[in-house]
Order: sequence, then C-alpha cells, then structure tokens
Amino acid sequence: MSASYDIAFTLNGVKTQLSVPAEMSVLDMLRERLGLSGTKYGCGEGECGACTILVDGATVNSCLMFALDCDAREVLTIEGVSSTESGARLRDAFVAAGAVQCGFCTPGIIVQASHLIERDPGVGEAAIRRGLEGNLCRCTGYRKIIDAIAAAGRQKTGTDHVFPGGTDERR
Ligand code: FES
Ligand code: FES
Repeated sequence: MSASYDIAFTLNGVKTQLSVPAEMSVLDMLRERLGLSGTKYGCGEGECGACTILVDGATVNSCLMFALDCDAREVLTIEGVSSTESGARLRDAFVAAGAVQCGFCTPGIIVQASHLIERDPGVGEAAIRRGLEGNLCRCTGYRKIIDAIAAAGRQKTGTDHVFPGGTDERR
C-alpha cells in the first residue's frame, strides 16, 4: 500500500484538508473520498471531458491530475459551478434548449461552458465549438448545447430577455 500525504486546498469555496495516496487522481478523490459525484468518470484517459473541473480558474481533466497536486490550489467542481450565476444561467439555458439527453457529459460541459462565458459572455459559435473540443457528447449532436451556451452568454450580457423562472420564452 502506498504512502498517503496531507493536502490542504479550497474546494468549492470551502477550506478542505485530507490525506491522499500519492497515485490517487483528483477525480477519484472527488467521487470516492469527498462524495462529489457530479464530476463523471468517462474514459479515464483525458479524451472525453466528462471529468472537467476548474483548478485556479483553468479547466482540467480531473482524471489526469494527481490529488496531491490540489495542494494550495482553488478547485471548483460542477457542484460549485452550479451555485454561481453563470452556472445557474447555463443550467436554465440547457433545460430550455433541450441540451441534455442522457446527461453524462453535461456536468463537464457546463464547467467548460461557464469558463467560456466568464471569459467572454458574447462568445460566438466558432469559439464555443473550439472550447468544447475536449468534451464529447454521444447524444445531442452539439447543436442544442451550443445554442444553450450562447443563450446563457447573451443573458449574462443582458442582451437576451430572461422571464421569471429563468427560461427564455422565445424558444
Ligand atoms: S474521464 Fe477524464 S477525460 Fe474522460
Ligand atoms: S447528453 Fe448523453 S453524452 Fe451528452
């Protein structure tokens, strides 16, 4: 059995300390040690993006990062992103656009999308497609996902009208 090491980091805004084996991935730490099952295990090889999280504001495939490397970092998972304004807008936009089918890719895509619209709320289709290059979806064909991200960005800039309840009634 390998040695464990103590780490301390900020997880979804909360100071967190735990002891992790040297070879443990961030994905396993989140799901198995911390009970945060929103981040999904797809391929385990950095190909699908289902495990996308934010570390110090950058998107990361959590299956490829060692838990040890979270030490002294800021980690945001889908659970944390969901409670942000952009996360809530994206959730509502995904529902309104019908951009969720099986939903397995959705947490990773919403984390990636929140990163995109935080950097540029007016992000266009080409940039959304580039931003999603590392996030695979087997169900939707991406059209509705792209529409939802663009709509959430427009709502952030106030160029789209959001009706009470958070849905865009023009759809
Ligand atoms: S599970 Fe991490 S990229 Fe697929
Ligand atoms: S909705 Fe099923 S993989 Fe994307």
